[in-house]
Amino acid sequence: MLAQPDGSPVSDPRAYAPLAAELHENSKFSRDRQANFAEPVQRFETDLDRLRGGGDRFGKASAVVLDDEPLPLAPLGELAARRRSHHGTWGDTPLTRRSLATILRVGVGTTGMHRPAPSAGGRYPVECFVAVTDVDGLDPGIYYYAPHALELRRIDPDDPAAALRKSCMQPEDLEGAGAVVVLTGVFSRSTSKYAERGYRFTLLEAGHIGQGICLSAEGVSAGSLCLSGFYDHELDGLLRLDERVESVVHSIVLGAAGERPAGS
Ligand SMILES: Cc1cc2nc3c(=O)[nH]c(=O)nc-3n(C[C@H](O)[C@H](O)[C@H](O)COP(=O)(O)O)c2cc1C
Repeated sequence: MLAQPDGSPVSDPRAYAPLAAELHENSKFSRDRQANFAEPVQRFETDLDRLRGGGDRFGKASAVVLDDEPLPLAPLGELAARRRSHHGTWGDTPLTRRSLATILRVGVGTTGMHRPAPSAGGRYPVECFVAVTDVDGLDPGIYYYAPHALELRRIDPDDPAAALRKSCMQPEDLEGAGAVVVLTGVFSRSTSKYAERGYRFTLLEAGHIGQGICLSAEGVSAGSLCLSGFYDHELDGLLRLDERVESVVHSIVLGAAGERPAGS
């Protein structure tokens, strides 16, 4: 029988999170449910190019093109072996624009149709925002990252540091950080094709992107910390999202790593 690490039996998942168990059950592919996907696929096929492109979102906002030559990265195996979550005080040297450009390029950006992270059915339900608080070469503010244009489009010019700290459960994690990459889900891009399973896909895809960001942060010697301890409505509000269609699903704090304790 499946057991917990301490040997005790694994509980029925419905005991802890009945809605999650319900969602999981209802998002399983089955022969009859899979067959039902054919109709929505055809219905939404025509929208695909527009969905994939995401081209003009915030297109009128003032933009910074992050076409900096990406910094060279160590081989993937080395980065994977070195990656750690950054806990504690952030280092003194600010993150640079080129470091951030490299991180976003590796995790999210593309100049062609294909992106670094895979997306179920090519629906690309995950969007990327960046709250810049202390990055050398960039004004503080909240930006939308347009993945194809490699552009940071500024949607709020105010320094978001105080509001970010307020929306986080452990504000000390943000003290001295350089930027927070905030990934949002536009769920209907995926659910319109995959119904409940599209919700799973959106979260999975945010995880794919998040890993790319963490590894590339390691590659440019920055620190990264995935942060789930935020107040959702407040962070959604900070990004001015229309919560009926889009919500924050993941966030990654970036900053100067500083000295890592020996052996960690
Ligand atoms: C989805 C997700 C959410 C996380 N949220 C937090 C968080 O809110 N606060 C925090 O200190 N660490 C957070 N972490 C980091 C984990 O605590 C960390 O990955 C774990 O302890 C393993 O350590 P490592 O990343 O250094 O290997 C999160 C990690 C993931 C993947």
